[in-house]
Amino acid sequence: MSEKSVFITGAATGIGEAIALKLDQMGWRVFGTYNRTPPDELIKNASPRLTMMKCNVADPEAIKQAAEKVKNALGDAGLSLLISNAAMTGAPGPVETLNLDEFHFLMEVNFWGPLRICQAFLPQLRKYGNARILIVSSTSVYLTIPLGSTYPTSKSALSALTRHLRMEMEPFDIQVAALEPGGVKTKMTGFSKEEEVACWAAIPPHLLPIYQKYFSFPGDQIQENFELWPPARFAEKVYKKIVLAKKWKPIYIIGPSVSALPIMHRVMSRKRIEKIFKKLFGVKF
Ligand SMILES: NC(=O)c1ccc[n+]([C@@H]2O[C@H](COP(=O)([O-])OP(=O)(O)OC[C@H]3O[C@@H](n4cnc5c(N)ncnc54)[C@H](OP(=O)(O)O)[C@@H]3O)[C@@H](O)[C@H]2O)c1
Repeated sequence: MSEKSVFITGAATGIGEAIALKLDQMGWRVFGTYNRTPPDELIKNASPRLTMMKCNVADPEAIKQAAEKVKNALGDAGLSLLISNAAMTGAPGPVETLNLDEFHFLMEVNFWGPLRICQAFLPQLRKYGNARILIVSSTSVYLTIPLGSTYPTSKSALSALTRHLRMEMEPFDIQVAALEPGGVKTKMTGFSKEEEVACWAAIPPHLLPIYQKYFSFPGDQIQENFELWPPARFAEKVYKKIVLAKKWKPIYIIGPSVSALPIMHRVMSRKRIEKIFKKLFGVKF
């Protein structure tokens, strides 16, 4: 069996950094990418095996170059694990007034980027033999977050794509799974005051009183209602439940108080679920 190797995007911060460090500590050869945040902390804490490269996942050329670099480093051995982790959250606001250029960019990062990454790395994964692809989606796919539609929509598309990829990869002995985290304390959890101001400012004055009467800014509710884990604890679970598993499940839901979300969708009516989300996210009707 060849050396275990992983390519992971968004490895300079949060969940990606914690998983990269865990795999490095377990002897894996880690190729990580970073975007705006320099990966100094990870480089300091990891072994000299670690290779970090700058790669904006919204840039198809940068993805091709990253794949080329990994191919040159691994040669015929191939890559054993691909983790598509990098993502961003969208600016909150009602569907009616969403800035479509911003939403488009969000889809580039959260959906088209992971798709391009899978396409670019598949030849190397196939070379390895029984390689694996872990797509980091989100438990937000089970939620309805009023004024917070863009991120769950992008992740829902990604989860759907992952299901299809999983089936298509079976003949190649490549296992694919979606990792749906929830409640991990990173840069991504919560919104800033500036985002709240921008959210209301983007709504035309004649509609603002109605939106403000019935809806709350989603950030407040997210902070208040959810327990958060440190990324290292999350990475430990990912390693034990997913990386070490021989046969991968289609979906791994990991995080505090999130495992009930898909069950809720199976056993409750749509109406009942909407009622719960209205209460959870401070909707006033
Ligand atoms: N934390 C949670 O509770 C939670 C819940 C559900 C899903 N997730 C998912 O978990 C994954 C990791 O998120 P996180 O919580 O660890 O947040 P995070 O620390 O903000 O990690 C996101 C990473 O993606 C990178 N990134 C953003 N835009 C990029 C781009 N255009 N090109 C390349 N990299 C880019 C960021 O780099 P820069 O900051 O340098 O741009 C950052 O390193 C994401 O897929 C997220 O959707 C997290």
